[in-house]
Amino acid sequence: MRVVLLSLVIQEFLTLGHSASSHLIPPVILVPGDGGCQIEARVDSTFTNTHPHCHLKPHQWVNVWFESGFIVAPKDEDFRCWLDYIALVYNNTTRHTTSQPGVETRVPGFGNTTTVETLNPELTSFISFRYLADMVEALVHTLGYQRGHTVRAAPYDFRKAPNEQAEYLTRLQTLIEDTYQSTGGRRVVLAAHSLGGSLVLYFLTHQPQEWKDRYLEALVTLSGAWGGGVKAVKVYAAGDNLGSTYIDPLKIRAEQRSTPSLAFLLPSRDLWSPEEVIVTTKTNNYTAHSFREFLGSLKLPDAYNMYLDTRDLLKGAPPPGVPIYCLYGVGIPTVEKLTYTDEDSFPNHPTLTYGDGDGTLNIRSAELCKKWVGKQKEPVVVKAFPKVEHMEIVTSRKIINYFLDLLKGIMERNEEEWRKRSPDYDGGKPGESMCQAKHKR
Ligand SMILES: *[C@@H]1O[C@H](CO)[C@@H](O)[C@H](O)[C@H]1NC(C)=O
Ligand SMILES: *[C@@H]1O[C@H](CO)[C@@H](O)[C@H](O)[C@H]1NC(C)=O
Ligand SMILES: *[C@@H]1O[C@H](CO)[C@@H](O)[C@H](O)[C@H]1NC(C)=O
Ligand SMILES: *[C@@H]1O[C@H](CO)[C@@H](O)[C@H](O)[C@H]1NC(C)=O
Repeated sequence: MRVVLLSLVIQEFLTLGHSASSHLIPPVILVPGDGGCQIEARVDSTFTNTHPHCHLKPHQWVNVWFESGFIVAPKDEDFRCWLDYIALVYNNTTRHTTSQPGVETRVPGFGNTTTVETLNPELTSFISFRYLADMVEALVHTLGYQRGHTVRAAPYDFRKAPNEQAEYLTRLQTLIEDTYQSTGGRRVVLAAHSLGGSLVLYFLTHQPQEWKDRYLEALVTLSGAWGGGVKAVKVYAAGDNLGSTYIDPLKIRAEQRSTPSLAFLLPSRDLWSPEEVIVTTKTNNYTAHSFREFLGSLKLPDAYNMYLDTRDLLKGAPPPGVPIYCLYGVGIPTVEKLTYTDEDSFPNHPTLTYGDGDGTLNIRSAELCKKWVGKQKEPVVVKAFPKVEHMEIVTSRKIINYFLDLLKGIMERNEEEWRKRSPDYDGGKPGESMCQAKHKR
């Protein structure tokens, strides 16, 4: 039943997609969230294999995110081999992260959508590896978008925080400019999920207003991770199973703890007060203002350094300076506090207390964009979707349809503008574009 209905809807839109107006669609560039793109790794001859049973072939790129072995009966050594590939090493002098000695990583597919649509190139049909595929397919089939041309993606090394993304941000700028040029001067819509929203906000606060006005039509954020969340505290303490019951969170926790992006996602001091207890044990209370003590109790001095490196990157949450559509889910239990009732349970087995949010982001973080209303001249549209979970927001039909409608709205505005500028335009408000039209005549 559902399938039939869906194909009817798609048929209806297909007509529109192939109509004359498809040349007016604004190009879209997708910026994925944490864990939302493929990463490849390879080792060289200097690599010292800490686990002899790992079959690491030197000089060969292999996909390490997302690792299919995790889903199908993972063994302990699978996790240990994987950690060698993907965990980062922090240097507290340079304050930068690198791979383990002898390991090199890269993020494939920049500029096209393949590596954000599904996370494993070998298992493209495996439903749990689909990420932005539904969204891209909807753009292609209903509005006539073309992969690699009018819908593109900017995957990045999501293990790192914005302070280590200088090269990526330059590539992102070039991608936006190239896409604008190659579509005949159509302004780009940036669509970002979760951590991608924070990264784009960081990018935009470092761009001059003239550049934003020239190249960008709008920013659409899906669960933008503006102020972080208590979930990050829980991941430091007890790891995260990435939503899979096959994965023991404690076996992949070391990788998660090694990433600066996790430090960047710790609850913001702008949103959590020094009085609000986030972690409570028999002997201590920790707040968003005492991560030094909390990370110290976990013996993670590097994580604390990463926190210092990243905690002020979006301080005060400056407005993006482009029209923004801030979409997020609410009404899903979201971890708000960790309690340890006895000493043995610390840190692996917290008792979790839940509050409102999207299952990952606390509501106060997701709705931080509300404060931009009236703080920038461009429109700020804020919309909460009940019962839409943090990952589900990119596949939810409701959200995808909202996004398509939003793009159609831009298309109609573009068409209107185009008609005003064309000599055949007969009426409307006089303005600069009208004068240009008359002049041409
Ligand atoms: C950290 O970086 C500095 C400067 O590049 C270097 O001298 C030092 O050996 C590095 N430390 C480690 C532990 O690799
Ligand atoms: C830097 O790291 C080294 C070992 O990696 C450690 O001995 C030293 O205390 C650290 N320094 C700071 C300031 O964290
Ligand atoms: C983008 O990827 C699609 C397949 O997913 C391919 O058909 C298309 O040619 C690619 N475009 C570019 C510009 O690489
Ligand atoms: C932690 O805070 C609670 C109030 O939130 C307080 O009752 C308790 O005594 C505090 N515990 C410690 C060890 O400071």
